[in-house]
Amino acid sequence: MAIEQVDAYLDSHREVFEEQLKTLLRIPSISAQPAHNDDTLRAATFVRDDLVAMGCEAELVPTKGHPIIYAERHDAPGGPTLLIYGHYDVQPPEPLEPWLSPPFEPTVRDGNIYARGATDDKGQMLTHLKAIEAWLKTAGSLPVNVKVLIEGEEEVGGAGLEAFVAEHRKRLACDYAVISDTSQFAPGIPAITYGLKGLSYFELKIQGAKTDLHSGTFGGAVANPCNALAAILASLKGADGRILIPGFYDAVRPLEDWERAAFAKLPFSESEFQASVGAPELVGEAGYSTLERKWARPTCDVNGLYGGYQGPGPKTVLPARAGAKLSFRLVPDQDPKTISQLFRAHVERVCPPGVTCEVIEYHGAPAVRVNVDTPGVRAAVRAIEAGFGTPPVFIREGGSIPVVGLLKEQLGVDTLLLGWGQSDDNLHGPNEKFSLADFHRGIKTSAHLLAELARA
Ligand code: BES
Ligand code: MN
Ligand code: MN
Repeated sequence: MAIEQVDAYLDSHREVFEEQLKTLLRIPSISAQPAHNDDTLRAATFVRDDLVAMGCEAELVPTKGHPIIYAERHDAPGGPTLLIYGHYDVQPPEPLEPWLSPPFEPTVRDGNIYARGATDDKGQMLTHLKAIEAWLKTAGSLPVNVKVLIEGEEEVGGAGLEAFVAEHRKRLACDYAVISDTSQFAPGIPAITYGLKGLSYFELKIQGAKTDLHSGTFGGAVANPCNALAAILASLKGADGRILIPGFYDAVRPLEDWERAAFAKLPFSESEFQASVGAPELVGEAGYSTLERKWARPTCDVNGLYGGYQGPGPKTVLPARAGAKLSFRLVPDQDPKTISQLFRAHVERVCPPGVTCEVIEYHGAPAVRVNVDTPGVRAAVRAIEAGFGTPPVFIREGGSIPVVGLLKEQLGVDTLLLGWGQSDDNLHGPNEKFSLADFHRGIKTSAHLLAELARA
């Protein structure tokens, strides 16, 4: 039986796969930092070369930013086609001080591999490549047709992928899509994610006087951009956690009763969650549980603040400028464009006298919900049972994966979001990790998914 040979190949290649993961994790492919453009290209080349070595004709496709890797195999004429997406770029590792081992020197502790990109998304992406390898090295072919699409600009919201998908709609046509770039519900409880939040990201720039001034001589008579910024930010949210921008909730699809009941049935302890994040108290929109807030209600968060004197000791200054980076996480059916218009109009309304307010828009992505009553999802459930030894629970997540909306819009396909991570993997933070056991379970699940989709 082909699948048994595949499983045997996976068992005998665990160490090789781990070494390959380490090699990829050693490359600091930080898409946001131009100083690392060579490294980002090296990571792309690693992925391309790995696909070629296992017998896929893979190409590096240049974009205006970092290259895309694309490969196809047509081993199942008349059979279904699976599109696999992943990203080889990673978030900046800074701040470096809290890392227990350097971010680009992958280190194994307690069965976890620690490195930037371990779970997001190099480790998870690699699981699908190794599953393809196992089929090609044993059976000599794949049980379904496969298209592999790996990008290097996910973490910066680059436009390269969108252009590629729009330009190659026919070439990318598929029956199923799979992405492993999310998490399990908890250790031992694998999950299929059927909803992700969207994103609207802004920078707000406040300008007052033409230069910094003495705060005694000028304070009280000339507007202070830091004070103005605080007033604007304070106007965004009420004490009950509701966002106060008029019209913000208009398009929000309410949580349905069955969904609230399903969330409430998941084994989740608010107090354990609180202890795990180490916050003195859990907060959020009144009337919703923590899981509902995290997964299904829109949020507004300041991601960074600047302005005024930041050095040691006091300085009596009336700053000329201040600013903030802030973002809204969106839920179905909020439209990032509408949210952007509402936010701009709100800032114009509340911008205090004596300063000018400028809104700069960064990336946006719509929230997504995928259908779970499909042959693809049923095949994925069986594959997860094979790989993890237990069936998945169905969850939503608060993160955003812009390509999911793009694949739906351009190719009409619902993505299977099969995440192998854990919620404490510290993605984007210091000491990012990925469980090696889950790495291997993910590979096995992916290998079985190919077989299950062929039968679906
Ligand atoms: N893998 C994450 C998305 C994610 C995080 C899904 C946590 C589920 C749980 C992805 O790489 C990511 O970081 N996305 C960004 C959005 C992007 C436009 C920069 C995000 O969610 O902040
Ligand atoms: Mn990711
Ligand atoms: Mn990420």
